[in-house]
Amino acid sequence: MRIDIISCVPALLDSFFAHSILKRAQEGKYVEVVVHDLRDYSGNKHRSIDDYAFGGGAGMVLQIEPIARCIRTLQAEREYDEVIYLTPDGELMEQKMVNQLSLKGNLIMLCGHYKGVDQRVRDIFITKEISIGDYVLSGGEIAAAVLADSVIRLLPGVLNDETSALTDSFQDNLLAPPVYSRPSDFEGHGIPEILVSGHEAKIEAWRYEQSIKRTKERRPDLLK
Ligand code: ADE
Repeated sequence: MRIDIISCVPALLDSFFAHSILKRAQEGKYVEVVVHDLRDYSGNKHRSIDDYAFGGGAGMVLQIEPIARCIRTLQAEREYDEVIYLTPDGELMEQKMVNQLSLKGNLIMLCGHYKGVDQRVRDIFITKEISIGDYVLSGGEIAAAVLADSVIRLLPGVLNDETSALTDSFQDNLLAPPVYSRPSDFEGHGIPEILVSGHEAKIEAWRYEQSIKRTKERRPDLLK
C-alpha cells in the first residue's frame, strides 16, 4: 500500500510516522507513506496557497490550483483507489470503513486548513470525505494521521501477532474484553482466576462474555 498525504503543514506529520508500529510497517515495506508540502505546488515565489473567500466572511480558503497540481502530479505516476478529504462534514469514520480502506492499494489523503478547500476541489478530485468525529480540529493532519494509523495496523504482517487486530474493539461490533499482566496481585488487587486456569476454551468464553458485558454497559448502540 502507498499513502500520499497532502498538507500545508507537513512537519506536523513527520514524527508521527517515524516511531513504533508505523515506522516498522514502512521499514518492512508493508506501506510507503509520503507527505507532500502543498506549498511546493503553489506556482508562485511567495509559496502562497490560500486566499480570501469570494463573497466575504472570515477565514482563508485553500485554493484549487496548488491542490490540482499536486493531485495530478501523483495521479500521473500511479493509479489511486481513493482521493480522501479529511473534513468535519465528511462521513463519520468507523472500523468497517477502515477495514475496507485497508484492502486498497494506493490512497491520497488531503488535509484541509483554515476555512477548508475551494468546493471545486471536492467536486472534481475527491472520491471520499471522512470525518474522525463530531468536533473541529485546526487542520486535517491529525485526522489523516488517525486514519492512516488505523488502516496501516490492519495490513497483513504489520502487527506481530496477526490475530491481535481481529480481537480489537469494534471488530464484530464488540468492545474488547479487559486484559491483565504481571503481577497477579497488585496491592491486594487480584486478577480473574479463570485467566490462570490454563483452560483455553473457558478463557475464550469468559472473554466473549466480558466483551458483551462491556459493550452493553458502555456502547449499547453497537449491539443494535
Ligand atoms: N478537519 C478538522 N476537523 C476534522 C475532523 N473532525 N475530522 C476530519 N478532518 C477534520
